[in-house]
Amino acid sequence: MGSIRNSIRSMGFVAGWLLLLYCYPVSGIGVNWGTQATHPLPASTVVRMLKDNGFDKVKLFDADNKIFNALSNSGIQVMVGIPNEMLYTLANDVQAAEDWVTKNISTHVSSNSVDIRYVAVGNEPFLSTFNGTFLNTTLPALQNIQAALIRAGLSARVKVTVPLNADVYESQSNLPSEGDFRSDIRDLMVEITKFLSDNGAPFTVNIYPFISLYSDSNFPIDFAFFDNNNSAPINDGGRVYQNVFEANYDTLVWALQKNGFGNLPIIVGEVGWPTDGDKNANLIYAQRFNQGFMSHVNGGQGTPMRAGPLDAYLFSLIDEDAKSVQPGNFERHWGLFYIDGKPKYQLNLVPNKNGLVAAKGVHYLAQKWCVMSPSASLDDPQVPLSVSYACANADCTSLGYGASCSNLDARGNVSYAFNTYYQRNNQLDSACRFPNLSVITTSNPSVGDCQFRIMIQTTSASVGGRIVVSITMHTALLVLVFLFLLTMR
Ligand SMILES: *[C@@H]1O[C@H](CO)[C@@H](O)[C@H](O)[C@H]1NC(C)=O
Ligand SMILES: *[C@@H]1O[C@H](CO)[C@@H](O)[C@H](O)[C@H]1NC(C)=O
Ligand SMILES: *[C@@H]1O[C@H](CO)[C@@H](O)[C@H](O)[C@H]1NC(C)=O
Ligand SMILES: *[C@@H]1O[C@H](CO)[C@@H](O)[C@H](O)[C@H]1NC(C)=O
Ligand SMILES: *[C@@H]1O[C@H](CO)[C@@H](O)[C@H](O)[C@H]1NC(C)=O
Ligand SMILES: *[C@@H]1O[C@H](CO)[C@@H](O)[C@H](O)[C@H]1NC(C)=O
Repeated sequence: MGSIRNSIRSMGFVAGWLLLLYCYPVSGIGVNWGTQATHPLPASTVVRMLKDNGFDKVKLFDADNKIFNALSNSGIQVMVGIPNEMLYTLANDVQAAEDWVTKNISTHVSSNSVDIRYVAVGNEPFLSTFNGTFLNTTLPALQNIQAALIRAGLSARVKVTVPLNADVYESQSNLPSEGDFRSDIRDLMVEITKFLSDNGAPFTVNIYPFISLYSDSNFPIDFAFFDNNNSAPINDGGRVYQNVFEANYDTLVWALQKNGFGNLPIIVGEVGWPTDGDKNANLIYAQRFNQGFMSHVNGGQGTPMRAGPLDAYLFSLIDEDAKSVQPGNFERHWGLFYIDGKPKYQLNLVPNKNGLVAAKGVHYLAQKWCVMSPSASLDDPQVPLSVSYACANADCTSLGYGASCSNLDARGNVSYAFNTYYQRNNQLDSACRFPNLSVITTSNPSVGDCQFRIMIQTTSASVGGRIVVSITMHTALLVLVFLFLLTMR
């Protein structure tokens, strides 16, 4: 009896595995791990998060020994980036490219068992905001890194690629079949694509429906999502598009095909939705987009032009509070997880796994906040100065129009600014001494969706470093206030 039951159970087990193999694309789902945060979680904590959540691939923007060590023997596949700032050197110096590969790839692959699969040379180097700075260096850097990988005997297992913004191709109408590379960089794009193709490397593209919506107020909002019922679909010669992601992806497929690379593998290097800092950046839309995207990926059907599994990296794992807000206030809020590793919303990455799993073993600072003192007046001339100082040196991206704290009253605004500065400075007493304006409280000032967060504890070393920095900043603050008072007299 027992053995029959066991064999039935193991048949069920095998069937389960077959079902898994059948249902899930072989490539799995990846995620971008950016590290521009003032209080990053320890690398080992993040690797545990990746595993607990079933990510089997990770994309890094920079080579970082601490991260490589944490990824060692993890079974997670790695794409590691080279920052744009290094392209010039790598393009002009073969030895520098070889040193980069030796130090940042070979060492970790051989002695450390890090499963590095791709080197991402540059990051969106042809973005129009870079004014063409990297046009001349991207391809030579790509070539030198590839040559160095060959020299290191790694070119069969580690492939090169260049993560590109989706604006390297365009369609004159909105039909994907009209797609081609952008005319001003067409020859360069063809050369790069040919190089990738010749070396068995993939084309990597970042696709952002959120940006389509953000940059065009007439964009039909439902077309940004995968559950689109309402807006008229695009019918491109019988191929029907219900969402901008697939239309955009197939515009690339057409561009590749027109230039003779119809079978080049495509990786979606970044795709995601931010949760704060803009009227369309919120938990509901982010959940709707990412869940729709994951269901699409897990369905495994691909796009009208490219059947089969999608190879993609979600953007991103954890919020990064030190990113530039030049693209917009939403830029610090792309994470599936907050800075403390707590999931923002429920998301089923794989069909039978429920929700996201929080980071384990996270330590917080004390339950206290810095707020505007009840006795202080909004008419105090130091208020605007103090708020702009706090916001310039911490993160007020949740305060703007349409953001999670945009409904605070004026005093709430001031408190929010003071608190973000206080938390960023590890709750130092001196970081809550806005002259006669601020006070420390133990009662949580959060209201509704507007969270006054408690910062996490980072290692003592970095706290030490920060104390020096913040003492300097407080000195600067006092000087500023002093100068301001002088001008008032
Ligand atoms: C390895 O990568 C890091 C991070 O990008 C960089 O600072 C360093 O210069 C690289 N090492 C070499 C030898 O190029
Ligand atoms: C690009 O050009 C604009 C306008 O000339 C300038 O404001 C911006 O700083 C430039 N960006 C870079 C990265 O050089
Ligand atoms: C790139 O090369 C072209 C031709 O050699 C040159 O005219 C252009 O100024 C270069 N651009 C940059 C950003 O270096
Ligand atoms: C789309 O239509 C289905 C069926 O009518 C409905 O259940 C679902 O809520 C709709 N989704 C949206 C986003 O309107
Ligand atoms: C709060 O601050 C934001 C961002 O600085 C500003 O747009 C908003 O008008 C302020 N609200 C009040 C009530 O002062
Ligand atoms: C703070 O308030 C006290 C008493 O109202 C006043 O004497 C002092 O000058 C104020 N300090 C500053 C820096 O404004």
